Amino acid sequence: MQKMDHNRRAFLRFLAASPLLSGIDLAQALDDGEAVEAAADAIDIFDLHETVRGKLPPAHYGYMATGTNGDGTLRANRTAFDKFYLRSRRLVDVSNIDTRINILGRDYASPIVLCPVSSQKAFHPEGEVASARAAKRRGHLQILSNVSSTGVEDVSRARGEPVWQQLYPTMSWPVAKGVMARAEAAGCPAIVLTVDLPGTVGVRNTLERAIRRDTRDCAACHENPDIAGRTPPMYDGLTIPSSGFSQASLTWEFIDRMRNATDMKILVKGIVTAEDAELCIEYGVDGIIVSNHGGRADDSGIGAIESLAEVAGAVRGRTTILMDSGVRRGTDIVKALALGADAVAVGRPYVWGLGSFGEAGVDRALEILQYELEATMEWTGTPSLANIGSDHIGRHA
Ligand code: FNR
Repeated sequence: MQKMDHNRRAFLRFLAASPLLSGIDLAQALDDGEAVEAAADAIDIFDLHETVRGKLPPAHYGYMATGTNGDGTLRANRTAFDKFYLRSRRLVDVSNIDTRINILGRDYASPIVLCPVSSQKAFHPEGEVASARAAKRRGHLQILSNVSSTGVEDVSRARGEPVWQQLYPTMSWPVAKGVMARAEAAGCPAIVLTVDLPGTVGVRNTLERAIRRDTRDCAACHENPDIAGRTPPMYDGLTIPSSGFSQASLTWEFIDRMRNATDMKILVKGIVTAEDAELCIEYGVDGIIVSNHGGRADDSGIGAIESLAEVAGAVRGRTTILMDSGVRRGTDIVKALALGADAVAVGRPYVWGLGSFGEAGVDRALEILQYELEATMEWTGTPSLANIGSDHIGRHA
């Protein structure tokens, strides 16, 4: 994409500055995103958002977009990035930008990771498999949701190697053990315990409003076992307890239990405080994912990039840190790496691509983010990920 898009961006900038267009705030329009007809036409990730917004049924779009309660944490995830600025260094040789990374023993082309996102067939008929193919083409780590539309074996086949498996254990140990055993048998090197949704699904008002606007007969799919009316495939053969998918009784001892039941690496996803990061270390986890579930798990929280600053300060290099929630641009990725994340994950951005154009859309989303990451590494004077450090970031007073 590099050359063509450079030209295209330059042309758009030229147009934006042209007196012929006076009265049209093109720069603002680009920031907000514009719907596009083909994946290749998306200039930034927000174009894919605008596209998917027009394509998905309201309820499915609402499921993807919703935060919790008044969506305060969701908004904070974006605004918090503006509290930080980048400190670019000059006259550094950036003729070779290298984004390769080793995450827990495996090599990837990029530190950009695909978050576990549930039910991807609600966004495109090929769902997680389409995401996996794009992740394979571009060499990204993919984490599969426990409530995916397709099982780990097929997704790993499409990815070309075993993905990481995310776990919602329920309150039944046989269920948790069953999911872990299946992931391990499929060759997954890591299991990711999500801890920020203790109850059922929280207070998703934006989703509720979207459902109200959707005039289709939801039951026709959601109660049809051949479409969406079945228990998610990763729970096949397991008996979901009467408490359903709630994991309200989960405590830290559960990590010991997991450790005794599996040889996979164990990561905990949903950590936002220094205290819990310390407990993660105490319980010997292999990694922490700093995340507030993209603002879907709580309200009145701080932006995840601020949580990362707190958590990384407490961890001081003692375990691997991934971060997600609100990451939309290459600058966001570099800020997270500068604050101490080893890798940075995205949820909605690649799903916007998926819902817009299937595999080609995921591919384009990853391409845009990677391109922006490399551009940011160029101008900050950081030719490799190891060069990105705390001296490249500052915080506004
Ligand atoms: C999610 N997320 C999520 N997390 C998880 O551990 N298991 C899951 O099944 C899901 N499902 C899911 C569905 C949808 C539609 C979204 C948007 C998110 C959370 C996800 O892994 C990640 O934490 C956030 O998406 C990151 O925030 P952004 O990038 O979406 O802002």
